Amino acid sequence: MNGRKGFMPAFGAVLKPEQLDDVAEYVLTLSDEAKSSETSERGKAIFQGQVGGCYYCHGADAKGVQSQGAANLTDKIWAIVNVPAQKNLQDKKAALMAFIAGGVNNTRIMPAWKDRLSPTDIKLLAVYVHQLGGAK
Ligand code: HEC
Repeated sequence: MNGRKGFMPAFGAVLKPEQLDDVAEYVLTLSDEAKSSETSERGKAIFQGQVGGCYYCHGADAKGVQSQGAANLTDKIWAIVNVPAQKNLQDKKAALMAFIAGGVNNTRIMPAWKDRLSPTDIKLLAVYVHQLGGAK
């Protein structure tokens, strides 16, 4: 009924390039795309601490805080950054760094439908989407 507006702050001006590199490597360890290393440990401290504060929306377990609409970073499902399409670790990190630097602001919107569809139609759609496999 209310649609959604994905929001993640841009970190390009908050984190230094080395810190973006560190945190990107940590994010890759969460889905077994990279092995834990000194770099990823530095990234973990950024993610879990006040410098990055990523845990605030993604959770300390990185599974995503649902009320924030924040992505689960451990499920190997990449909805925005196409990590699996990248050839090697360097390219995967580069794709993540570009995304983390830019964030998400008014680019991933689903409009509200409550004024366009009747409550009955919304209920019917919810049942249809549910049987497709969502929310189970
Ligand atoms: C204010 C909340 C918030 C904070 C803080 C935040 N994120 Fe996010 N992040 C989100 C949301 C919301 C999405 C999903 C956006 C969407 O679906 O439109 C997201 C998406 C992502 C994705 C994309 C995942 C995919 O499936 O492609 C990555 C990677 C990511 N965040 C990493 C980080 C890192 C690293 C930090 C810290 C430097 C961080 N986020 C801080 C809210 C946040």
